[in-house]
Amino acid sequence: MGKIPQEIIDRILDKLDIVEVVSEYLPLKAAGRSFKACCPFHNEKTPSFVVSPDKQIFHCFGCNAGGNVIGFVMKHENLSFPEAIEMMAGRAGLEIPRTSGADDGTSSLVKQLYEANNTAAEYYQEKLGTPEAKGALDYLRQRGLNAETMKEFRIGYAPDGWENLQKYCKKKNISADILRKAGLSVKSDKGRNDYDRFRNRITFPIFNERGNIVAFGARIMTDSQPKYLNSPETTVYSKSGILYGLNFSKTAIREEGRVLIVEGYMDVIIPYQNDIRNVVATSGTALTARQVALLKKYTDTAVVVFDADQAGEAASLRGLDILIANGLTVYIAALPEGEDPDSFVRGCSGEAFRKVIGRAKDLFDYKLDLLLRKFSGSGIIERAKVVNEMLPTIVKVTNAVIQSAYLEKLASRLKLNEAALRKEMSKVKADYSFKYEEKTRVSSIPGNYRNSEIYLLGLAVLDKDMYDTMAGEMGLDMFIDETVKKVMFLLRDFYRSEKGPAAGKILSRLEDDENAKEAVLRGIAKADITGDKDKVLFDCIAHIRKENMEYELKNLTTKLKHAEAVRDQSAVNELLARINRLHKEKVT
Ligand code: GTP
Ligand code: MN
Repeated sequence: MGKIPQEIIDRILDKLDIVEVVSEYLPLKAAGRSFKACCPFHNEKTPSFVVSPDKQIFHCFGCNAGGNVIGFVMKHENLSFPEAIEMMAGRAGLEIPRTSGADDGTSSLVKQLYEANNTAAEYYQEKLGTPEAKGALDYLRQRGLNAETMKEFRIGYAPDGWENLQKYCKKKNISADILRKAGLSVKSDKGRNDYDRFRNRITFPIFNERGNIVAFGARIMTDSQPKYLNSPETTVYSKSGILYGLNFSKTAIREEGRVLIVEGYMDVIIPYQNDIRNVVATSGTALTARQVALLKKYTDTAVVVFDADQAGEAASLRGLDILIANGLTVYIAALPEGEDPDSFVRGCSGEAFRKVIGRAKDLFDYKLDLLLRKFSGSGIIERAKVVNEMLPTIVKVTNAVIQSAYLEKLASRLKLNEAALRKEMSKVKADYSFKYEEKTRVSSIPGNYRNSEIYLLGLAVLDKDMYDTMAGEMGLDMFIDETVKKVMFLLRDFYRSEKGPAAGKILSRLEDDENAKEAVLRGIAKADITGDKDKVLFDCIAHIRKENMEYELKNLTTKLKHAEAVRDQSAVNELLARINRLHKEKVT
C-alpha cells in the first residue's frame, strides 16, 4: 500500500467515535464529560486512562500512553499504522484508494453541508406559511418585519416535534449523517433516533460571505432561555470567522466606504429594511482577527454601534483595538439607554439612526473623553491611569502620522510632556509588537519544552479561537521549540481547511513523530485542566515575548563580542544600535 491520503484518515476519524471503539475493548465508565477505565497498557488498580469524546483522543495519566482512535487500535491490537487504517476503514465503511488525490472528498462534504442547510432553510421558510406557524409569524410582524424582508433573509419557522426536518430531508435524499454533520440533527444516546436540533423556534439562516448557508440562529418566541439557539461549529461554520449579514451588506459597505458593526441578527435586519444596508453583526461575541480580515476586503472604516451601557465602559472599547491593529479607522456611535439598533430604528426611524451614526466619534476621542470623565480631577495618578488606558490603543495605530497626532493630542489634553509620553509608549510597544527576529535555532530536546509553549500548544489544539489569537498576537515564529513549532504550523494548515475539533486529526498527521505526539498530548492535558484559559493564553504570550527578547539580547551580545574580536567596526556599530534599541524597548 502506498502512502494513505490524509483525507481518508480524516474521513475515518470523522466516522468513528473513539468512545464506541474503545468500549469494545474496555469497560468504560462515564466521568464528567469523559470516560475512564483502568489502563490496558500498564498495570494499575485505580483508573487513570481517560477517553474524551469531545477531543476524540485517549490519554493515560499513569503511563502517558495516548493518541486517537487509530493509535489506540494499533497499540491494543499490535498493528502497524497501515494495518490499523485498513481495519478502521473497513469498520467505517470506507474504501482506501490506492492512489492519492483521486476524488475531492473534503470539498464534496462542504457542498453537501451547504445543500443540507439550504434544504433546511427551504423547509423552515415553507413552514412559516402554515397555520401552525401563526404564533411565529405574528411575532415577526409585531417586531416590524415585512414579508419581503423575511423572504430576503430567508427567515423561517422550525415546527415543534423531534423528527420533522429529518423526515423532510430524507425525501430529499439528504443522509442522516450529513444532517448530523451540519448540526441540524443531534445524535441521541443509547440507540434512540436522532432528533431535530431546532424545534418551535424562528430560524435565521447564517450565511457566509458568498451567501451559502453555514448555520442557523433560532429564536424562541417567549422569554425563555436560551433566547437564541445556534448551530454548533461544523466543517463549514466557525463562529469566529462569520459576520452575520456580510453577504447582504458587502456592496453597500464598499459604496458607503464604511461598515456599521452591531450585535444581533435583528440589528442587521431592521436597519436593512429601512435602507441602511452597510451593517454586519458579530452575534454577540468579541470581534476576532478573522472577522476583521473579512471586513478589510470592503472598507477601512468601521462604526461600532454600542448601547449606552457598553459605550460607557472603557473595557468594552478595548475589544475594538483589534480593528485598529488591522489598520481600520474606528468610530463609536452610542445609542440611548436601553436601545439597540433594532429597537431604535423601529421606535424612532431610519433617519434618526443615520443621525446617530453621523455623530459617531473617533474611537480615540471617545475613549479619551470617557476616561477623563471617569478619572476626573487632574491629579498625577489620575492622569497616569488615563495614559495607561490610552497607550495600548495608540500603539496599535498602524499609520505613523495618525499615531503621532494622537500622542500629541493626548499630551495636550492631559498637560503632559510629549516626550515622556513617547518614552512610555515605546515600553508598551515593546510589549505589543516585538517580533522575534533572529531565528534562534534551539534544537528540540524531547520533553524539554518551555512551559508556556506547551500550554499554548494545548490551547491551540483545543480551541481555534485561541490559535487565532496566538497567530495574530505574536505569530508562529515566536515558538522556539522545533517540535512545538512544527505542530503549530500543521495546525495553521489544518484550521485553514477544517473547523472541527483538531486533537484527533492533528495526532493522525504526526504518525511518524513520537515526540510531537507526546507534546500535543501533554499540552492538551495541561491546557484542559486550566481554569482561566484566557488568562493563561495572554500570560503565556507575554512570557514568550519577554523571554524571546532576552534570548535575542544574549544572541546579539555574543555576536558583538565576536565582531569586536575580529575588529569589524561596522558590524559592531550595527549590533550596538540593535542592542540599544532592544534595551529601550524592554519592559523593565
Ligand atoms: P432580540 O431580543 O431578538 O432583539 O435579540 P438581540 O439581538 O437584541 O439579543 P442580545 O442583544 O441579547 O444578543 C445579541 C446577539 O447575541 C444575538 O443576536 C445573538 O446572536 C446572540 N445571543 C443572544 N442571546 C443568545 C443565546 O441565548 N444564545 C446564543 N448562542 N446566542 C445569543
Ligand atoms: Mn434586540
